[in-house]
Amino acid sequence: MKHFTDISCLSQQKFRGLLRLARNLQDEWVREGRNEPVLDGRSLAMVFMKASLRTRVSFEVGMRHLGGGALYLSPAEVGLGERETAADVARVLSGMADGIMARVFEHAAIDDLARHASVPVINGLSDRSHPCQALADIYTIEQMAGACRGLTIAFVGDGDNNTARSLIEAASLANMEIRVIAPKGYQPRPEEWDSACEPDLVTDALDAVEGADVLYTDVWTSMGQEAESERRTADLRDYQLNTGLLDRTGNPDVIVMHCLPAHRNEEITDSVMDGRHSRVFQQAHNRLHAQKALLAHLLGQVPLPD
Ligand code: CP
Ligand code: NVA
Repeated sequence: MKHFTDISCLSQQKFRGLLRLARNLQDEWVREGRNEPVLDGRSLAMVFMKASLRTRVSFEVGMRHLGGGALYLSPAEVGLGERETAADVARVLSGMADGIMARVFEHAAIDDLARHASVPVINGLSDRSHPCQALADIYTIEQMAGACRGLTIAFVGDGDNNTARSLIEAASLANMEIRVIAPKGYQPRPEEWDSACEPDLVTDALDAVEGADVLYTDVWTSMGQEAESERRTADLRDYQLNTGLLDRTGNPDVIVMHCLPAHRNEEITDSVMDGRHSRVFQQAHNRLHAQKALLAHLLGQVPLPD
């Protein structure tokens, strides 16, 4: 694996290896207060066409923990595809940095970067997918439950977004069942995920959360869709993750996840987000460990543990 543009870049073995490496790096950090500087002298160029908190900080701090450094390049500076083509940006950065992490609108920009870069390219979110998030999400579920195999995720809300698509692919690699519960028009499109995945698509039936081990939601209006916000809010109003929905799982130990940022009291209520089932901040913190594993493997050639 040279690049990490989607979960589908990973075999099941590599996926498991990355989760183990993340665990080892987290354990090392907790035990020794430092990591081996496996990225000593290396640089990561981070190209952002959209806002970010978790992605930027996890990659930047992750590089620092591993002995390297990261450069934040804002939308105004790079203007990927506007000021300069993605191909030219890839060629330029390949001669100066040891890896490129990019957050873009159209997924094609990630593919263009990967096609023209001689250094690893990591997808830090595109309109189509958010694989770094999904990696951290499965890491979080495993940390909570011990193992993922056989557990069920119920994703409620906008199933046709980047977070949902990557979660579908990651759940498949983790041998988890995933139900996407969304109204008509908000279901993920099968042509957009790896054909090996078999999510259970449920339209207009919130009862399908019954028995779920994980209740997951994301914003109803993703970055770039702001003009559709009013319509989306109206269409998805009944899909709010609230205490009523939590009760409908019938599972007293169900955990609640959200990739964040949340639009509090839209797709998730304060009482659920701040309640005892919520793991949203642990999930956010785990971005650091998951991203460190990716960086150590892709930029530092650290082997993936068996
Ligand atoms: N979840 C996530 O990617 O957060 P940011 O948009 O803040 O990076
Ligand atoms: N679906 C959201 C995820 C943010 C991390 C968005 O694209 O805005």
